Amino acid sequence: MTRSLVLIYSLLSRRRLSESRRTLFLIPTSLALVTSLAIIFYISSTSNLFTNQTPPLLLKHTISSSLNYPPTNSLLTIPLNNVSSNLANLQESPRLSTTQLRYSVNNEVFHDKDIFMENYKDMSRSFKIYIYPHSEDDPFANVLLPVDFEPTGNYASESYFKKVLVKSHFITEDPLEADLFFLPFSIARLRHDPRVGINGIQDFVRDYIFNISHSYPFWNRTGGADHFYVACHSIGRSAMDKADEVKLNAIQVVCSSSYFLSSYYAHKDVCLPQIWPRQGEPPKIAPTKRNRLVFFAGSINSPVREKLVEVWGNDSEISVHSGRLKTPYAEELLRSKFCLHVKGFEVNTARIGDALYYGCVPVIIANHYDLPFADILNWKSFSVIVPTLDIPLLKQVLKGITFNDHSRLQRNVLKVREHFQWHTPSVTFDAFDMVMYDLWLRRSSVRVRLTI
Ligand SMILES: *[C@@H]1O[C@H](CO)[C@@H](O)[C@H](O)[C@H]1NC(C)=O
Ligand SMILES: *[C@@H]1O[C@H](CO)[C@@H](O)[C@H](O)[C@H]1NC(C)=O
Ligand SMILES: *[C@@H]1O[C@H](CO)[C@@H](O)[C@H](O)[C@H]1NC(C)=O
Ligand SMILES: *[C@@H]1O[C@H](CO)[C@@H](O)[C@H](O)[C@H]1NC(C)=O
Repeated sequence: MTRSLVLIYSLLSRRRLSESRRTLFLIPTSLALVTSLAIIFYISSTSNLFTNQTPPLLLKHTISSSLNYPPTNSLLTIPLNNVSSNLANLQESPRLSTTQLRYSVNNEVFHDKDIFMENYKDMSRSFKIYIYPHSEDDPFANVLLPVDFEPTGNYASESYFKKVLVKSHFITEDPLEADLFFLPFSIARLRHDPRVGINGIQDFVRDYIFNISHSYPFWNRTGGADHFYVACHSIGRSAMDKADEVKLNAIQVVCSSSYFLSSYYAHKDVCLPQIWPRQGEPPKIAPTKRNRLVFFAGSINSPVREKLVEVWGNDSEISVHSGRLKTPYAEELLRSKFCLHVKGFEVNTARIGDALYYGCVPVIIANHYDLPFADILNWKSFSVIVPTLDIPLLKQVLKGITFNDHSRLQRNVLKVREHFQWHTPSVTFDAFDMVMYDLWLRRSSVRVRLTI
């Protein structure tokens, strides 16, 4: 046996010697072949470029399915003692036909409103947050305390959250009854503090964690897993680079919530919606009054936006503006059926909030965006999600949406927009409440006893 193996081996190696030169050419050629096959497979599996003839409604469905979050909570509705019989039922049931699939699309804005309402009541009753205390005399009071003015600008969400939280009924003075601990530093304000600046943020966060983990017992108890911070500016994504435990364990509530970033973990972290602050009742314009198909305005600061301008820059129905508008922004949003949210430097911009406020159906072109409240809201019921690769198909996709389907999407836009507004103090189901609910879903249910 051994001898025959040796014989085969020596035969093979002699053969290999004689063929070595041919192999030398074969390796790169076959590598190239495999790579191109892989690329073609990737394109065909992520894009609709090859399936142009699909009926419009289904096309929309396949597009959005890349962001089809199963309502995690609905799993709880299967009684545990009956899981196996339910599973058996699932396996026996015949495959759904195309028609059935078409009608089984969930048009409700919540994945499951009953479960949401039930959990929401629990949260309102029992959720408690402890904020590390700082006084007005703290040299970094400007960073650690809430702002005393109405937040403004693109990153207002961060300031709003803290301002509303400190005044809310979720606050407890007793750390022993807290579910979560809030790290009150503001990344946006650190960025503008001349003592810190963009380059000093990482050191500040590291020092802050050092300080609280030495002065209090709570951080060490869980390695920070029951702590959270809130940040809207995308500079936040590197702010934790010198505080690994914050990145790996704490709940990061951030606007730049991208699956593509190595510092964001969708199951642990939370998307903070980026919302331009607006007061008062939002206006309502019926679908019939909207005479333009789709609108976008913004600086062309990313390859995705460049592609958009390249393909649709001169189109009469797809209105793409680069730079400043001559007409009022609100008017443009009010007269369009669809409004584009296109990835810029980061996946997030305030445009989703803008579109919702003005009753325009958002079209999201930002691959890997962990959309705000995606584990609560059914984004397919009030938006259209288009992968970057399908920008050339944009007009076909949007024109394929019937008047009735657009009306349904728009009605749902009007239903969800209350969740994309800040109020001080907060009102039921507003942006603050929804972020709190997402935090509630991520709180730990296991609590290690303190030995003090
Ligand atoms: C378990 O599931 C089966 C099939 O779905 C159902 O007929 C039965 O009543 C269930 N039993 C219990 C205890 O829920
Ligand atoms: C940490 O504590 C020291 C000593 O009290 C203080 O000087 C410093 O400003 C604190 N740093 C942070 C980031 O909180
Ligand atoms: C927390 O852990 C650090 C590092 O292990 C330690 O130096 C510190 O004293 C601990 N804090 C408390 C309050 O025990
Ligand atoms: C749009 O039109 C302008 C002026 O006619 C032309 O210079 C430009 O190349 C066109 N762009 C595209 C994307 O077709």
